[in-house]
Amino acid sequence: MNSTDKALIRVLSGESLATPPLWLMRQAGRYLPEYREVRKDAGSFLELCFTPALAAEATLQPIRRFGFDAAILFSDILVVPHGLGQEVWFEEGKGPQLAALKEDSDLSALSLAAFHERLDPVYRAIGLIRADLPAKTTLIGFAGAPWTVASYMIEGGSSKDFSRAKTWAYRAPESFQKLIDLLVDATAQYLIRQVEAGAEVLQLFDSWAGVWPTDQLRRWCLDPMRQILSRVKEAHPDVPIILFPRGAGLLYRDFATESGADGLALDTTMPLRWSRRHLQDKVALQGNLDPLLLLAGGPVFRDRVATIKEELGKGAFVFNLGHGILPSTPIEHVSELVELVRG
Ligand code: CP3
Repeated sequence: MNSTDKALIRVLSGESLATPPLWLMRQAGRYLPEYREVRKDAGSFLELCFTPALAAEATLQPIRRFGFDAAILFSDILVVPHGLGQEVWFEEGKGPQLAALKEDSDLSALSLAAFHERLDPVYRAIGLIRADLPAKTTLIGFAGAPWTVASYMIEGGSSKDFSRAKTWAYRAPESFQKLIDLLVDATAQYLIRQVEAGAEVLQLFDSWAGVWPTDQLRRWCLDPMRQILSRVKEAHPDVPIILFPRGAGLLYRDFATESGADGLALDTTMPLRWSRRHLQDKVALQGNLDPLLLLAGGPVFRDRVATIKEELGKGAFVFNLGHGILPSTPIEHVSELVELVRG
């Protein structure tokens, strides 16, 4: 099969398909017993990410079980800070932990010197996945967007209000810009290498875009992502790129017109009709079922799946969730979703 016959790639080049391609953000993970098994064998989460055969296995598990149209590389957005030399670890029940950046001078410890060497297992995993992927399935590579990654680097983990990262950006925008610029450079290089290793589509996750007022959102989210896109497309003009500026609200329109993206992943809150009117003539849309509705199941879930298909399915559209699948999601609900979307 030619790559242009793949449903996800066709939609990202602007085609509307009668049955939309389907994949789910965080489709590999703890809701799958087979994932919990490899996760246990790997020891730690980062060990799983950095052992190519295991990362490839985790990537392929949801494809075997559900036959999704796309596989997403099993890794994490926080491998980029690790590649830059920041200490990153995952604690059971605590989520990601990083040796937090505290002041301007901490930035000088970060470097691209060993970046590709540290991330080489990721590139090798991509090669293994491509070799085992069904012909119709597209492999998506990904990275976190600079702002979201910077927020973890400064907060030292997850955060409720992002007060340290936002205060840094407000008080010392020049030094915050240095960090963002470094992440633009690292992320562009990282994505280019992923394409060279075999990734066919890329997605950038800006999970925390929505915490900024408009002008800051443009500066710290839209602008850096636009720069990354332009660098990746300079090297690989044909690789389709999806952006997920979660919480961007009305600014989704600016992402559609200014970022150069081929697709936008809509978060759960984005109104369908507005998105169809203001975005879908410019970019392919992906989304946006509430992950909690997939977890809940039942008639409200089934109605919403039908509504999303109806409202967005007439244009270029990829069915997905509005954020990552939750660990306690019943597997039967995922099977039902596959039937509803394809049936
Ligand atoms: O299946 C896939 O989508 C591919 C793998 C993937 C993971 N993380 C695996 C993972 C992807 C695309 C991500 C992206 C990611 N990671 C984001 C952006 C998307 C989003 O959800 O907003 C963010 C913010 C992170 C950072 C991160 N990684 C957090 C906050 C956590 C802890 C929360 C949690 O779910 O445990 C992680 C850990 C993580 N990343 C897990 C997985 C499967 C769980 C770790 C485990 O198995 O112990």
